[in-house]
Amino acid sequence: MVEKQKVLVAPSLLSADFCNLKSEMDNLQSADMLHLDVMDNHFVPNLTFGFPIIESIRKNTKMPLDAHLMVESPEEYVDRLAMIGVEYISFHLEATVHAHRLLAKIKSLGIKAGIALNPGTSACLLEPLLAEVDFVLLMSVNPGFGGQKFLPLVYDKLSYLRPYKEKFGFLLQVDGGVSDKNCQSLVEAGVDILVAGNFVFQGDYKQNIARLKL
Ligand code: DX5
Ligand code: ZN
Repeated sequence: MVEKQKVLVAPSLLSADFCNLKSEMDNLQSADMLHLDVMDNHFVPNLTFGFPIIESIRKNTKMPLDAHLMVESPEEYVDRLAMIGVEYISFHLEATVHAHRLLAKIKSLGIKAGIALNPGTSACLLEPLLAEVDFVLLMSVNPGFGGQKFLPLVYDKLSYLRPYKEKFGFLLQVDGGVSDKNCQSLVEAGVDILVAGNFVFQGDYKQNIARLKL
């Protein structure tokens, strides 16, 4: 019998207590990677953290780091992130006219390259890029803030992408409003990586991560 493939859980540090990042990270050991929401207050109406903080996160954990760039001109960020040593970088299709080139650049740096999509952007626009991506990040909230309501329109995008996933072997990641209420249907729809902020950081983190993996 083929064993059911386990979903990966990526807690979003956006929901962490930034004054206690080290102990927050220590409480996330059972997760598979740490999701870092980089916002520039231009692409999205919020500002989070940049290189110095990511560098210090890197020095304090061996967990894979997943940088989600919600920034204009994402091409200006990848060299520094490569030097710091993140394992995954995603950028938004809406933020660059050179997505194909940037995917190749990220991969040439030995980093897994992902393309991210806002809820209002059609998944069909990804078609020419799907042979090149290591993962696709589908936003199930409008980017910028944690704790928003999950938008079910992501399911249609998952159905559209699934045959391409089988063909090319990329991973599917969903980000926004993920909880124990929707994790099972998301995994059934083909999701490989669940990003969760609010849900993980309430109560017992380890238990919450385990609930997303059920
Ligand atoms: C939103 C971020 C998400 C966010 C998810 O722009 O990309 O990663 O932190 O948080 P929740 O799970 O609370 O929606
Ligand atoms: Zn994110």
